[in-house]
Amino acid sequence: MSLHYSDLQTVDIDLADRSYLIKIRAALIGFSDLYNSLPAATTALIVTNTTVAPLYAQCLQGALADKYAQVHTVVLPDGEEHKTWQTLNLIFDALLQHGCDRKTVLFALGGGVVGDMTGFAAATYMRGVPFVQVPTTLLAQVDSSVGGKTGINHPMGKNMIGAFYQPQLVVCDLSTLDTLPQRELSAGLAEVIKYGPIADMAFMEWLEESMDALLARDKAALAHAVRRCCEIKAWVVGQDERESGLRAILNFGHTFGHAIEAGMGYGVWLHGEGVGAGMVMAAELSQRLGLVDAAFVVRLRALVQRAGLPLRGPVLDAADNAGRYLELMRLDKKADAGAIRFVVIDGPGRAALRAAPDAMVREVIDTCCQ
Ligand code: NAD
Ligand code: GLY
Repeated sequence: MSLHYSDLQTVDIDLADRSYLIKIRAALIGFSDLYNSLPAATTALIVTNTTVAPLYAQCLQGALADKYAQVHTVVLPDGEEHKTWQTLNLIFDALLQHGCDRKTVLFALGGGVVGDMTGFAAATYMRGVPFVQVPTTLLAQVDSSVGGKTGINHPMGKNMIGAFYQPQLVVCDLSTLDTLPQRELSAGLAEVIKYGPIADMAFMEWLEESMDALLARDKAALAHAVRRCCEIKAWVVGQDERESGLRAILNFGHTFGHAIEAGMGYGVWLHGEGVGAGMVMAAELSQRLGLVDAAFVVRLRALVQRAGLPLRGPVLDAADNAGRYLELMRLDKKADAGAIRFVVIDGPGRAALRAAPDAMVREVIDTCCQ
């Protein structure tokens, strides 16, 4: 099928010879023209999971059949708890069983878990093969499919093993969001919300006006949100691809959030839920550090709540909850010689990386957990 629609939006990720486009529109993945710009190859491998495969694999397979002589599919178990070495190996098994060579193109069809694992497999199979992100969750469309962070979890810490490896193309089909469970849509909204306080207060205002439309999956609202989030992420990643500084701001709420995910056991709290409660904690910390006023925290809390996200973190340890959070957060990748560094809001629309006294962090955790 040829693509001749005028409402296709594109965002450019400008990274010299690793540059690529994000294409955004409803009803998109079935158009074979989309994939014309990809390098020539005879084989493609679609990596997806047990939930997404029955919904969209056939459509993508049909489009790819116009370009590749062989299109194979590997279906992974679904869930954050499967973001492991064991599951990653299923991708390598499929690649080897099908005799895939260095030109084989991998297509990550699914949410952030499939995208992160497929990207890591692409980064390492035969020391690197091309891959394409076809994100089917809101979270993956606004964040995880863009910017080249790939990897898997370790039982002791989130996303601890991985590589920076950019895709060749990102295809955001807004129609795939129609089948997303409401809880997953809310989780995606956490990553949408974060872009306001860290970079764009006008976007935060737009979110305050448009939250109902987003929750109702209005396509125009979703298109605007996905495009604006990708533009901000492109701006950040274009300056700091490997997170030597600026890129850390995209982790607003994540230091607390990753501790929640690891502390509860992967898959119990969704990533976006951890980020939702984590953003509230990070905002409270920013206020205690004298960087924002109470009104800003109230405003952020209201947006998180309207998105259907938890405002309070779980208790991870009844005996010493704050101690358990601190222990987990010391493993955060932003920690420097054991000192935790938090993404804080340094005035509305601006973020910074700061350390904070343990006593202050304990206070925040005590105030913000159930
Ligand atoms: P996910 O991949 O687990 O997807 C959520 C659920 O929705 C899954 O059950 C999935 O099968 C299902 N699903 C996916 N698309 C669907 C659709 N269209 N219709 C119905 N169901 C669908 O979770 P996620 O929220 O997409 O991603 C979270 C992961 O992303 C975490 O592992 C997180 O660490 C990672 N992440 C990575 C980055 C990055 O920069 N690489 C950024 C943010 C998050
Ligand atoms: N999601 C955070 C990053 O891409 O850096």
